[in-house]
Amino acid sequence: MTWAPFALTVTVVLSAGVATPAEARQRDADPRKVIVDADPGIDDAMAILFALRSPALEVLGITTVFGNAHIDMGTANALRLVELAGRDVPVARGAAHPLILPLAPPPEFVHGTDGLGNIAQSEPTRQPIEASAAEFIVSTARRYPGEVTLLAIGRLTNLALALALEPRLPALVREVVLMGGSASAGGNVTPVAEANIWGDPHAADIVLGASWKVTMVGLDVTTSVRLGDDRLERMAARDPRVGGFVYRITRFYKQFHDSMGVTGGFYVHDPSAVAYLIDPGIFSTDKARVRVVTEGIAMGQTIADSATRAQRWDAFKGRPEVTVCRDVDGDRLLRLFETTLTP
Ligand code: RIB
Ligand code: CA
Repeated sequence: MTWAPFALTVTVVLSAGVATPAEARQRDADPRKVIVDADPGIDDAMAILFALRSPALEVLGITTVFGNAHIDMGTANALRLVELAGRDVPVARGAAHPLILPLAPPPEFVHGTDGLGNIAQSEPTRQPIEASAAEFIVSTARRYPGEVTLLAIGRLTNLALALALEPRLPALVREVVLMGGSASAGGNVTPVAEANIWGDPHAADIVLGASWKVTMVGLDVTTSVRLGDDRLERMAARDPRVGGFVYRITRFYKQFHDSMGVTGGFYVHDPSAVAYLIDPGIFSTDKARVRVVTEGIAMGQTIADSATRAQRWDAFKGRPEVTVCRDVDGDRLLRLFETTLTP
């Protein structure tokens, strides 16, 4: 096993982003400022709509990254989603490929050739902003020091690039909540690797090693929740525009899950990370230091070293503690998704 050759020096600036108790109370009462970094993607689309419709969240922008679709397709999908939600939220195009590895073909067998289940959509009427995803993340974090949460539901390339652009970023953002990885549930791309981490393991190792507060919503929880058609049909009936759209894009995704022998519905990976932001009490968590294998047959594996281990292995020394979601109340999560998306 070898570690990422791409080393970043992260300087923690204590003065920036540290709120007084009064500021922190006010901040916690307001909708939480969020940038959604995504690779839309069917479950990304569900997550973006979920976040845009939640009164608990203020989505400041959507940044896109390669993954479920090539970057231009994923960016067009983000623009379509903003339009569908009727919201004036900026979309910034991000990384087209991993930091070091060559680009792998998108998983069209999961998300369709258009990334949204092949439902023949019209061209978006909007354009992405000029700034890149990493530039947008940095400028927004500087604008609202200590307030912005990065919700990362794709490869972590944009976050790693933003860290390289602004080494003080960990002190400027409130926290990072990511869908990705697996502490003990195995993988979904390889026996040990989850897709978002496998797609850019070098970026993931940087992000999980930076000195910010990170929560990992991984396969440990996302594969124990299944969204079924009864709920989706109800949502489509209640709101034919948004609920109906979610129903239509998920037909392809459901077929994929059926073909994999997943019963009772399909996994809602990315919406689970949104649910964590809105109501973290749905999850139980523990702490671990996490490293990512960057090459070989275990590439993309997240190795979580429990906080209770007395002896620290050298590879984990100096790594920050990450909050790892371990269990989830699935009914509560699905209820929150349904009532927020189609109130
Ligand atoms: O492993 C699940 C993750 O990979 C989700 O973010 C999904 O959208 C895919 O990118
Ligand atoms: Ca995703």
